[in-house]
Amino acid sequence: MNKNIVCIGAGYIGGPTMAVVAKMNPDRKVVVVDINKSRIAAWNSKNFALPIYEPGLVDIVKEVRGKNLFFSTDIDKAIRECDIIFVGVNTPTKMFGRGKGRASDLQYWEATARNIKKIAKTPKIVVEKSTLPVRTAAAMEAILNSEDDGKFTVLSNPEFLAEGTAIKDLLNPDRVLIGGPQTPAGLAAVRAVVDIYRGQQGAWVPEKKILTTNVWSAELTKLAANAMLAQRVSSINALAGLCEATGADIEEVARVMGADHRIGPKFLKAGPGFGGSCFKKDVLNLVYLCESFGLHTAAEYWSQVIKMNDHQQERIVSRLFKAMFNTLANKKIAVFGFAFKANTGDTRETPADTVVRLLNEEHVRLAITDPKALDNAKKDLADIASDALAFVSDPYKAAKDADAVLVMTDWAEYPTLDWAKIYKSMRKPALVFDTRNCLDAVALRKLGFKVLNVGK
Ligand code: NAD
Ligand code: UDX
Repeated sequence: MNKNIVCIGAGYIGGPTMAVVAKMNPDRKVVVVDINKSRIAAWNSKNFALPIYEPGLVDIVKEVRGKNLFFSTDIDKAIRECDIIFVGVNTPTKMFGRGKGRASDLQYWEATARNIKKIAKTPKIVVEKSTLPVRTAAAMEAILNSEDDGKFTVLSNPEFLAEGTAIKDLLNPDRVLIGGPQTPAGLAAVRAVVDIYRGQQGAWVPEKKILTTNVWSAELTKLAANAMLAQRVSSINALAGLCEATGADIEEVARVMGADHRIGPKFLKAGPGFGGSCFKKDVLNLVYLCESFGLHTAAEYWSQVIKMNDHQQERIVSRLFKAMFNTLANKKIAVFGFAFKANTGDTRETPADTVVRLLNEEHVRLAITDPKALDNAKKDLADIASDALAFVSDPYKAAKDADAVLVMTDWAEYPTLDWAKIYKSMRKPALVFDTRNCLDAVALRKLGFKVLNVGK
């Protein structure tokens, strides 16, 4: 078996993951391929204008690109020249036909599998890096091995990195999960992938953090882990509404709950609801799987996680409406942050999109600012009339003459802004709705702001 690795799909997963695989395995050649020519061109750009923003990513790409990490659109050549193929193509929610709005759209995955089958002349280990419904590997194996009995071994190696901390998570993961068939060929393939994660001379992930399971457990664990995390966010947001109604403070409640080591402090931050490309898609997929297996009560249970999340954004707009005297028409609101979380330019499923659209229905004039996500915001909101919407990179300019500032993303720079200057430039009474509870509300009130928070 040769040491070359190819990854099909150069997106948020393929790019950072393979950059770190290449860094930790200098003795292996890693090629990342994609059908999207402009994306590959950006990964190869001379000035390192990479297609995605992740703290620390550009430094690693500078270190390994052209040495043992390559980006290419020549998918077939890359498949021919390697024995291990990671597949990290997108698996969005299906928007048509059976399972519409819930199931995973597997067309990109299947197209990839069929192409691998067409091109590959020698045995290959095909590794699912994308998040997939449980038992997808069976379908993939049926396609791949339909004529070449046993030439392909399909493994599941779901990725657990979070955007914004991708490089940190990849360099020092809590665990790596590799699921494989419990056969001699399957176990040998799992070992080959374990060796990649161990890194050259065992310098990367310690053996005890590499967990191996059967394929179905690995596929399901990824959906289950995301569903549990999403469920915690919805649970804390459900409690936030009750705090607002009763005078309890969600941060105090979360701090004390989180001090119980059985609960733990993470993922207890109330806010505008979860966004990102994974949580909603993966919970919906879990709902669909439960329904498909006749587990209707379980399906209903998980769908409440999404329902609560949608409700949270509606609640934000309702509270804003009430605080601004039940009329928003022609008022100006500055939206601080459009990314679904800090430290990323990704705007997929961002709560800010939902809130902006609800505000647009009220004929608000909106000025959106974000340090990294403004280009994506412009694309996402291209259907909204330009006189109702401005994109402004300078937050001070965005807030000028505004009636309210609505903080949607907890960018580290927002608490350090000159809020006295912002207050002076706004229409009075000036409101700040800090949906991330990331600003100093006491200091803002001293300046004259009216302040709203989530769960307080
Ligand atoms: P993405 O859309 O950023 O990237 C996917 C890439 O695959 C695109 O560039 C697309 O052009 C390419 N592609 C599609 N079909 C192809 C084909 N036939 N041949 C070659 N390239 C093809 O998506 P992403 O965020 O990187 O997610 C990819 C997968 O990883 C999804 O299943 C997702 O659920 C999973 N995942 C994502 C994250 C995350 O943080 N984004 C975390 C864990 C898991
Ligand atoms: C998630 C999983 O964490 C990761 O393991 C998986 O591989 C991909 O999906 P990601 O979506 O990138 O990662 O970010 P994450 O940090 O999980 O945040 C998701 C959303 O939940 C964000 O919108 C975030 O703001 C929100 N969130 C998170 C909260 O509102 N409160 C919290 O306490 C934590």
